[in-house]
Amino acid sequence: MEKFIIKGGRRLTGEVEISGAKNAAVAIIPAVILSDEPCILENVPKISDVDVAFKILAELGASIEYLENSTVRIDATNLISTVVPYDLAKLMRASYYFLGSLFGKYRTARVSMPGGCYLGDRPIDQHLKAFVSIGAVTALDHGMIDITADEIKGAPIFFDLVTVGATINTMLAAVKGNGLTVIENAAKEPQIVDVANFLNSMGADIMGAGTDVIKIRGVKYLRGSTYSIIPDQIEAGTYMVAAAATGGNVLIKNVIPKHLETITNRLEKIGVNIESFDDSIRVTTDGPFIKTNIRTAPHPGFPTDMQPLIATLLCLAEGTSIITEDIFDDRFRYVDELRRMGAEISVDGKVAVIDGVGKLMGAPVNAPDLRAGAALIVAGLAASGVTEIDSISHIERGYQNIIEKLHRLGADIEKITETAAPEQTVAKAG
Ligand code: EPZ
Repeated sequence: MEKFIIKGGRRLTGEVEISGAKNAAVAIIPAVILSDEPCILENVPKISDVDVAFKILAELGASIEYLENSTVRIDATNLISTVVPYDLAKLMRASYYFLGSLFGKYRTARVSMPGGCYLGDRPIDQHLKAFVSIGAVTALDHGMIDITADEIKGAPIFFDLVTVGATINTMLAAVKGNGLTVIENAAKEPQIVDVANFLNSMGADIMGAGTDVIKIRGVKYLRGSTYSIIPDQIEAGTYMVAAAATGGNVLIKNVIPKHLETITNRLEKIGVNIESFDDSIRVTTDGPFIKTNIRTAPHPGFPTDMQPLIATLLCLAEGTSIITEDIFDDRFRYVDELRRMGAEISVDGKVAVIDGVGKLMGAPVNAPDLRAGAALIVAGLAASGVTEIDSISHIERGYQNIIEKLHRLGADIEKITETAAPEQTVAKAG
């Protein structure tokens, strides 16, 4: 069993470099399937979700060559299969992007229902609705999703709710179809724009990404491209909160400040000082944290992935803060863990009420999912005493070199591997 051990109470100071965005990379890697030539991706984050995406690509017959640093050359022009098996698909939610890209290229795909973080019910009905709108016949066959079409024909699509995954999957499915597909009520997250920019760099014809109406005019051929993935705004937000929670002074480099505007705005309301430069931001604090109410929303609203992180910071604020989680219906499973560290939080459905406490105490805790795990790291860094975090594989899905990056900022954190305790022999009752 691997664990993180954190000795809290140390201010984070120095500089940290943000890696490529997980939620862009896990979409752009499957999107390479659509290309008719090899591609080169730069700024690819070294995280386990990306490892899984490359494993799936290799399983389908692609060749993957790691060049220097975080650059990868991918040739997916001679795939031998359009089936993504359960044992790989279950490892990450983003495996559903192989549905869109395989279908978009070959008009057929068979992918297991996705896995990933448990955040409540996470259907993919909007993905399937979009595929059907452009000509697909879909079927669920023993946990596998089958989609096929004689022809992919552009069509208007209106999403019943804003969905990042379905917006991206529709672009992947329609980019080589016949005619015009118009997505209305599209998601506007930075990774939506990044995927559209990648496809357009190969010769696609996608307009409007980043707005709520995206127009995709199908093209026949997509040439190879060398493309650099955007920096991870949630990783950046995580280090912003960690710097604030420890009363530190940190320069966060390789960011796009525009992608961080809402996070910056809310942290400033809480009393954190933020100085923005061209591709970096400095985070300092010089006073108490102020109670603040937060409601998550699709971009450009406050990102749901930052919700566990900001909740942790608000545990240290003076007064009562209210967090409303409007995207997922079960994203407060970390609250019990924070309570073990002395936090005073009550949860009722989508609302968490946080009564600030002066200090958190270190404790053994469990990471229920990726961003909750990151929040527990922040809590441990700010707490007095020792925090042990288990189930850290969740965290390593989305944060490249998190131990090394925190070490360089002065954190006392290490990863240990605990062997299972020898079987306790229990004296049998006489
Ligand atoms: C993506 O998940 C991200 N994951 C999530 O990040 C992120 O929290 C989420 O977008 C919102 O920003 C990846 O990009 C791999 P949605 P996704 O489709 O695509 C409902 C992280 O920590 N919905 O925007 O699954 C859904 O249940 C992860 O990096 C339907 O009802 O999110 C949710 O309530 C966690 N039907 C809401 O919409 C559908 O067909 C938003 O989901 C699709 C979604």
